[in-house]
Amino acid sequence: MPNLFDEVTIGSLTLPNRIVMAPMARSRADDLNRPGALMAEYYAQRAGAGLIVAEATAVSPIGRNYHRCPAIYDADQMVGWGAVTEAVHRRGGRIFLQLVHAGRATHAATIGTAPSAPSAIAASTKTFTASGFQPCSQPRELKVDDINAIVADFQLAARNAWKAGFDGVELHAANGYLIDQFLKDGSNHRDDEYGGSFDNRFRLLAQVVKVICSEVPATRVGVRLAPGRAQDCFDSDPGSLFSYVVSALASYSLCYIHMVEGIAGGATCNADIEAATLRRLYPGVWIANNGFTRHTAQETVREGRADLVSFGRPFISNPDLVRRLRDNLELTTPDKSTFFTEGAAGYTDYSPLQGG
Ligand SMILES: Cc1cc2nc3c(=O)[nH]c(=O)nc-3n(C[C@H](O)[C@H](O)[C@H](O)COP(=O)(O)O)c2cc1C
Repeated sequence: MPNLFDEVTIGSLTLPNRIVMAPMARSRADDLNRPGALMAEYYAQRAGAGLIVAEATAVSPIGRNYHRCPAIYDADQMVGWGAVTEAVHRRGGRIFLQLVHAGRATHAATIGTAPSAPSAIAASTKTFTASGFQPCSQPRELKVDDINAIVADFQLAARNAWKAGFDGVELHAANGYLIDQFLKDGSNHRDDEYGGSFDNRFRLLAQVVKVICSEVPATRVGVRLAPGRAQDCFDSDPGSLFSYVVSALASYSLCYIHMVEGIAGGATCNADIEAATLRRLYPGVWIANNGFTRHTAQETVREGRADLVSFGRPFISNPDLVRRLRDNLELTTPDKSTFFTEGAAGYTDYSPLQGG
C-alpha cells in the first residue's frame, strides 16, 4: 500500500516522499520582479518537501498578477532564480517553477496597461497591488496575434526556467488566471477557434503545453487545474469540461496533474465535481491539493485517490513540515497578515522544531 512518507517516481524524477509544497505567491521579489537572497533562503528552508512548486511566476510583463511577484522573462530574473534553485539543490531538494499569465486577474497599476483576457469581461475579485488589494481592472479582448505572442512568451519562460536550474515547470492553468479564463465559459465568450466547444477552449492550454514540452522534457512538466470557481472564473458545466481536459491531457505523457479540489483555501470539495471521478480518467501521476491534513493526506494516498498530496499554508509556517507530519508533531499556524508583506517577518523566520 502506498504511504505518504515513501519514495515515489514522477515522470523522470524520484522524490523521497509524497508531500509537495504547493505554489504560493508571497510578493517577496523586488520592484523589477527579480527573486533575491531572501527567496533563496525561504525555499531552501523547505527543501525537505518531496517536491517544491515555486510560486506563480510571470511569463511576461502583462502576465504579472501581484505587486512584487517574481517573473522569468529577463536575464536578471533568471539569475535570481538560479540562486534559488542552487540553494534548494544544495539542501538536497527538488524544485519546479509555476509559470503564469494573469490575464484579467490583475490590475493596470501592476502591469502598466489594461489587462488582457479571452473576452472583455472584468473579474469581480481583488488582486494585490502596490496599494494593497484592489478590484481587478477591466480587461481588453485578446486578438489571435496576441494569443500567439503569449504562447511564445510561455515557451521562452520555460526555456529560461530550465536554464535557471529548475527540475521542471508547472503550468498554472488554475485559479482564474489566463489559461483557466480560456477554459471556462463564464470568462470565455469568444466565437472564434478559441471559444465555444471544449476543443476550442482547450486550444490555448494545448498550445502552451506543446511549446513548454519543446523546451523542457514532458516528464518534467506538470499542469495545475482548478475546476471550481476561482477569482470569479467559473464554468456552466465544470464536471464535463474537466473530464474532457483531464482525458485530453492524458495523451501528453506529462509529469503530473496537480488538482485543486474545491476552492483553494475554501471548500475542500466541489458540489458538482467528484475529484475521484476526474482522477480515474487520468492514467498518470495525480497530486491532490486543498485543505489536507496529515490524516486525510495519508488516507488519500493509501487509497490511491492521489499519488501525492500538496500542502500550501502549512508549509508557510512549518519549514520542516515533512518531519512534523511524519513524527506527528504539532504544527504552527501561519500569520495571514504577513502573506504578502516585505521582508523576513512571516517568511523566513518560522523555525523548524528543535531536537529529533
Ligand atoms: C499566500 C498564498 C498564495 C498562493 N499563491 C498561489 C500561487 O502562486 N499559485 C497557485 O496555483 N496557488 C496559489 N495558492 C493556493 C495554494 O497553492 C493552495 O491551493 C491553497 O493554499 C490550498 O492548499 P492548503 O489548504 O494546503 O493551503 C496560494 C495560497 C496562499 C495561501
